[in-house]
Amino acid sequence: MSWQIRAERSEDGPLVERLLAESFGPGRFAKSAFRLREGVAPEERLSFVAIEEGELRGSVRFWPVLVGSTRALLLGPLAVQQHQRGRGMGIDLMRRGIAEATAAGWSVIILVGDEPYYSRVGFRRLPHRLRFPGPVDPARVLGLDLKEGTLATLSGDVRRAQIDAPVCADGAGTA
Ligand SMILES: CC(C)(COP(=O)(O)OP(=O)(O)OC[C@H]1O[C@@H](n2cnc3c(N)ncnc32)[C@H](O)[C@@H]1OP(=O)(O)O)[C@@H](O)C(=O)NCCC(=O)NCCS
Repeated sequence: MSWQIRAERSEDGPLVERLLAESFGPGRFAKSAFRLREGVAPEERLSFVAIEEGELRGSVRFWPVLVGSTRALLLGPLAVQQHQRGRGMGIDLMRRGIAEATAAGWSVIILVGDEPYYSRVGFRRLPHRLRFPGPVDPARVLGLDLKEGTLATLSGDVRRAQIDAPVCADGAGTA
């Protein structure tokens, strides 16, 4: 592996935005997951980039959300430069993020994405439906327990984390 995964820095912002624009196009703003991020900052210390030969080649960010009254992380966006895909960078970025989220005390991560890919790092379909703020294919709603048993307890509406409320990392906060 010749790349390095490191925490995103403020000066990486424009390059990450360019990568996301190239990877997802303008359609990204219409997605349910985008609505959950709108007006909310990504979780501090859980944004990572892949750097190789001085170039920013991949990015992952996590957002705080509420599922019912449980605080959870929403994984994404995850993107790797088109000509660098298939080398393991996406998995590597996620593994780093998952490890740091676990260390920070988070209980659970959810995402909307392809199960065949995300199951490689342990994500699985949820046992029951969550309601997103917009149409979402239930087969693409996936979760990963960081504290065993949390996924099974998740239910209800997935909402934006309160913008003005501090997000604690114990997963037990209330709306
Ligand atoms: C999805 C993405 C981040 C994967 O990054 P990557 O660095 O290529 O991923 P990795 O190298 O870690 O893993 C590649 C493997 O996953 C597989 N894979 C990639 N995307 C997949 C998908 N959507 N469904 C199933 N398998 C997938 C590849 O076929 C490859 O399989 P192989 O190891 O058997 O060859 C990258 O393709 C990307 O940026 N896509 C555009 C943005 C996007 O769709 N992001 C995800 C939103 S849900």
